[in-house]
Amino acid sequence: MLNKFEKKICCIGAGYVGGPTMSVIASNCPELRVDVVDINKERIDAWNSDDYSKLPVFEPGLENIVKKCRDINLFFSNKVEECISQADIIFISVNTPTKTNGLGAGFASDLKWIESSARQIAKYARNHTVVVEKSTLPVKTAETIKTILNSSLDINPSSEEKKTFSIVSNPEFLAEGTAINDLQNPDRVLIGGEDDYSINLISDIYKKWIDPEKIITTNLWSSELSKLVSNAFLAQRISSINSISALCEATGANIMEVVGAIGTDTRIGKKFLMPGPGFGGSCFKKDILNLVYLCRYYGLNEVADYWEQVVKINYWQQKRISALVIKNLFGTLSNKKLTIYGFAFKANTNDTRESPSINISKYLLQEGSKLNFYDPKVNQKQIFNELDVNEEDGNVLVYEDPYKAVEGADAVLILTEWNEFKFFNWEAIYKVMRKPSWIFDSRISLDQNHLKKIGFKVWTLGAK
Ligand code: NAD
Ligand code: UGA
Repeated sequence: MLNKFEKKICCIGAGYVGGPTMSVIASNCPELRVDVVDINKERIDAWNSDDYSKLPVFEPGLENIVKKCRDINLFFSNKVEECISQADIIFISVNTPTKTNGLGAGFASDLKWIESSARQIAKYARNHTVVVEKSTLPVKTAETIKTILNSSLDINPSSEEKKTFSIVSNPEFLAEGTAINDLQNPDRVLIGGEDDYSINLISDIYKKWIDPEKIITTNLWSSELSKLVSNAFLAQRISSINSISALCEATGANIMEVVGAIGTDTRIGKKFLMPGPGFGGSCFKKDILNLVYLCRYYGLNEVADYWEQVVKINYWQQKRISALVIKNLFGTLSNKKLTIYGFAFKANTNDTRESPSINISKYLLQEGSKLNFYDPKVNQKQIFNELDVNEEDGNVLVYEDPYKAVEGADAVLILTEWNEFKFFNWEAIYKVMRKPSWIFDSRISLDQNHLKKIGFKVWTLGAK
């Protein structure tokens, strides 16, 4: 490797966080060399693709940054060991999903990828290395990482080369779909640590483009916990407003009018009050469940139950939307064809992890429905994987043309708020559907009156 850079960063994990975050750092800090490494060869090949539309993460603005920096000071590779050994700073940005078996299954985070990263760092790092927790982690994970790193120092105490480590927590707050803007203009950057040198080293990177007043420093545990709490508060707002959407439907109040009325109170605020089919994405559910697990671990059962309810309401919202689709279609879906517009967990991303579309589709399939899908950014392979079906199945079809997807359908369900749906030719769609033709708008994104004038029967979330 060339030595023209002031410092070298290695990021372990080239996923939704590692890729965009490191691209933005590289673009703002040309004096730093940034290597993003991953064990997944296919993912790295996609990051290195000449066709920028094939980057493994779709984020508005990302393509331009990768074009500008790749192979200049931003590199994607599978050379995990080599890059670790040359790095001054190592960001760990690997996946931390919920454990599926063993102690804490269904709640605790599975830290096996964190542990294996720490073991690799322990083995291959040289001199002094600052290890940065970028992944979202349970409080006290830094303790585990420290133990693994420090154990490597005992292996060869006579070695001439002195290895030392310090550890920093720097959780990521970006949201998918707006990742580049969130990284360029964050509300804050949180850095938790134990020694000034490491905290300043990481702060100085962000100060290259972020107002120093937005950089908050805390101890390690406050930083780790603040990330979980931040996601829990955001998800709690969604479950709160979704619970009220059901009450609106029952009473004749209108959820968007309620949102307008309460959101203007500056203490409540307007953001994160959009009702919908429930929160999806890889993190809200897993981070709350992790919080619940931690509370139970420390004997705080009432606190655990309080937060678990946020996840329960989220399931319930998906179940109740599915149930009312069935009820409105005369109580049965056998021999009916439904079209799902939107499979991504939110607009402007190709990510489908924990998308509400998955549970809702599964409920509808269980009722005997045939499902046609259209999503502008999600392909057939991904939809089949998430629903655990294959081509032979025949009950699930994925279309690239939204107008073909509705031919002969009894209903259209809007499950992701893609802007393009608003501009579809709904008259043309009505003509090719079976009558009565229903629209179930769980994202409150279409003009109900216009659709009714065309002839559709319309259900909109949170309205009678
Ligand atoms: P991801 O699954 O997209 O990417 C993780 C990558 O790490 C994978 O490509 C995997 O192959 C790689 N990996 C795992 N172990 C490895 C190892 N030992 N060596 C090299 N590579 C390894 O995950 P993500 O969405 O980027 O999330 C990463 C972390 O960031 C999680 O803890 C998540 O909670 C947190 N986070 C995610 C988001 C988001 O929007 N996705 C936002 C904030 C925080
Ligand atoms: C969320 C947080 O917003 C980020 O700050 C955090 O870094 C990230 O999780 C993480 O830790 O992974 P993300 O999941 O990408 O980001 O997307 P959000 O915009 O938060 O949306 C999450 C889900 O909530 C989506 O399904 C979205 O449709 C839903 N949502 C969001 C609503 O139903 N209503 C709203 O008002 C906002």
